[in-house]
Amino acid sequence: MCGIIGFTGYLNSAEVLLQGLSELEYRGYDSAGIACLRDGKVEIIKEVGKVSSLHAKVPADFTSSCGIGHTRWATHGGVTEVNAHPHRYGKVTLIHNGIIENYHELAEELAKGGRFPVSETDTEIAALLLDSLYTGDAYAAIKEACNHLEGAYGFCIMFDDQPEVIYCIRKGSPLVATHTDEGSVIASDMVALLRYSKDYFVLPEFHIAKMTKDAIIVTDFEGNIVNPEIMTVTWDTTAAQKNGYKHFMAKEIHEQPEALRRTIMPRIVKHAEGSELGGLSLPDFTADNIPDSLFKDVSRIIITACGTAMHAGMMGKILFERLLRKPVTVDIASEFRYEDPILDENTLVITVSQSGETADTLAALRLARENGARTLSIVNVKGSSIARESDYVFYTHAGPEIAVASTKAYTAQLSAFYMIAFRFAYVLGKITAKECSDYMEGLLDVIPSIEEVLKQEDDVEAISHHLVKAENLFFIGRSLDYALTWEGSIKLKEITYIHSEAYAAGELKHGTLSLITDGTPVIALATQSHVLSKTLSNVKEVRARGAFVICVTTKDAVIEPTLCDFRIDIPRTDDIFAPFSAAVILQMIAYHTASLRGLDVDQPRNLAKSVTVE
Ligand code: F6R
Repeated sequence: MCGIIGFTGYLNSAEVLLQGLSELEYRGYDSAGIACLRDGKVEIIKEVGKVSSLHAKVPADFTSSCGIGHTRWATHGGVTEVNAHPHRYGKVTLIHNGIIENYHELAEELAKGGRFPVSETDTEIAALLLDSLYTGDAYAAIKEACNHLEGAYGFCIMFDDQPEVIYCIRKGSPLVATHTDEGSVIASDMVALLRYSKDYFVLPEFHIAKMTKDAIIVTDFEGNIVNPEIMTVTWDTTAAQKNGYKHFMAKEIHEQPEALRRTIMPRIVKHAEGSELGGLSLPDFTADNIPDSLFKDVSRIIITACGTAMHAGMMGKILFERLLRKPVTVDIASEFRYEDPILDENTLVITVSQSGETADTLAALRLARENGARTLSIVNVKGSSIARESDYVFYTHAGPEIAVASTKAYTAQLSAFYMIAFRFAYVLGKITAKECSDYMEGLLDVIPSIEEVLKQEDDVEAISHHLVKAENLFFIGRSLDYALTWEGSIKLKEITYIHSEAYAAGELKHGTLSLITDGTPVIALATQSHVLSKTLSNVKEVRARGAFVICVTTKDAVIEPTLCDFRIDIPRTDDIFAPFSAAVILQMIAYHTASLRGLDVDQPRNLAKSVTVE
């Protein structure tokens, strides 16, 4: 939610900011703006719309060595140039990612001192506040401002009388920084730093970073210098580029075999022949520092997350209950955090997040910890807030995901749940070492299955032509297929703007069947043998009401040809692994339908990746 970047150094800051903003644009694309120091003065250029519109507005000869830039996902105030960041008041120019919850009260106070905003944003109030507190000591003003500000924030701040210096502070919202010979750069996400360095650090909360051309100095609120841990990313700039694909989403769909390989392979330990576990390939989390004792005496597991990550958790629930025989609930993080969940030291709370920064998931994690629960997170972004605050972290290695619609992060999250289920089912004596090893072989076979499925892309695209004009659509399935309908539905909705619903196939007749009329598209998932005949009965029910049916099933499933208009086959695997290939089919359906509708696949309207507001 909102991308921010600051640079001071030996390059043209306008170029650095515009380049960085285009890389951060997936975080918000309602408007964009930069503020750069030129001839001792701060010049601001803003534009409604995408970063490319801002770029077009910045004169080609616009040079500067220090500046801040922002790409906005509107929360407070409409999408207008006045509401676009940077905001400036008095000596202060700033950009912000987050929400200042008490901005209204602050505005009333500041008005008494004759300070009035021109925009409708919460952010501008922070500029007014800082200006009112600033008497030449930036540290004192920022610290005092933090005492007044409620909510979440990541700020980059320039003071008129401190040229070429940027101060940064955060609470909740992410900020990562790096310093090289070219200067100092800070941003909401590592993708904007990559062209300068693979090494970076996360600015700790309530610490102030003072960025100059030659250093970044981080201090705590007592003024002590702090040296945050330097982290290194393993991927390079090409990982955050389209590499010949039309959209990031298409590229990321195709990266899934590699993302799974990277996530699964390092966790497999092949035991030497002749040893007790001779020849077996078992998942091992020693390198992740996740102890086998984690599930010992666990009486209850709660999985909490948002959106797609929560859908991965729905799959995790079925697996855990099947294999671990422990009760599992899946909660939407934004609900969980405001209820009164039953938590104790025998409860394991698993949070799932691609970004590791989702505000509601982070709050759910904090609530779990405060109440003494054990916590494990499944996270894609190294060093992110959720990863840092969990007792244990299982990193997925999907690489940077740029398209707003999550694809490779989802299947990587699934693989994490599968490995956790297998390992702990074995550790708890629910399955034998041999069974565990067989499961791991099955999980590895998912990779060639997905490669196979990706070859069907042309067929899937051809079928998607039939959905282009749809207004409503239903996904139905049972068991693991039902968990997957949720993911199929969100993917379709968010990028095609076609209304769709995920439904347990057996539940339709309890009301929803009335919505099925001649030609209503129904995507039926029928990959689970133990409920196949039941699912097919439900397909018959919708068919009898005139539904246009696309059936996603396994190669060997026997289905009357008249039951569906189109059948898409996935390779035969053990049923529990079918969701991987089926997920890829659903991603491709959503992708091609959106693309055929001529929509902005990577940046769908009203959305943004990494939801750092609640
Ligand atoms: C949908 C999608 C979102 C995210 C959700 C959680 O395609 O990407 O539903 O899954 O916003 O985000 P993370 O995983 O970053 O916590």
